[in-house]
Amino acid sequence: MIGKLNHVAIAVPDLSAASEQYRSVLGADVSGPLDLPEHGVTTVFVNLPNSKIELLHPLGDHSPIAGFLMRNPAGGVHHLCYEVTDIDAAQSQLVAAGMRVLGDGSPKIGAHGKPVLFLHPKDFNGTLIELEQV
Ligand code: CO
Repeated sequence: MIGKLNHVAIAVPDLSAASEQYRSVLGADVSGPLDLPEHGVTTVFVNLPNSKIELLHPLGDHSPIAGFLMRNPAGGVHHLCYEVTDIDAAQSQLVAAGMRVLGDGSPKIGAHGKPVLFLHPKDFNGTLIELEQV
């Protein structure tokens, strides 16, 4: 079902400091910040040869990652995103296997304009998993 690792998302308390660290200390190709008000986050992409790292910072009062940063003030790995070719088929298969899809259970348009869904971390070894249709 799953294909490539699309990105690893890291919630960070200071987006410009984290961006600068990836740029200057790790020598990575780092994008500028992008505000996504409808998702309650500002993102920065670190483009790696084989995948991406997404640095996430809360935007607005109802950010889905505000609670995570409260519990992890130094930041931390927030989720992994795997690619799938058919998100509706993936959703049915996962639900049939007893996995819990977050929210109302149906795919949504994610931060990159593509259909995504999130799987309950308690069903996946304590890891929040995003599936993105590519
Ligand atoms: Co993501």
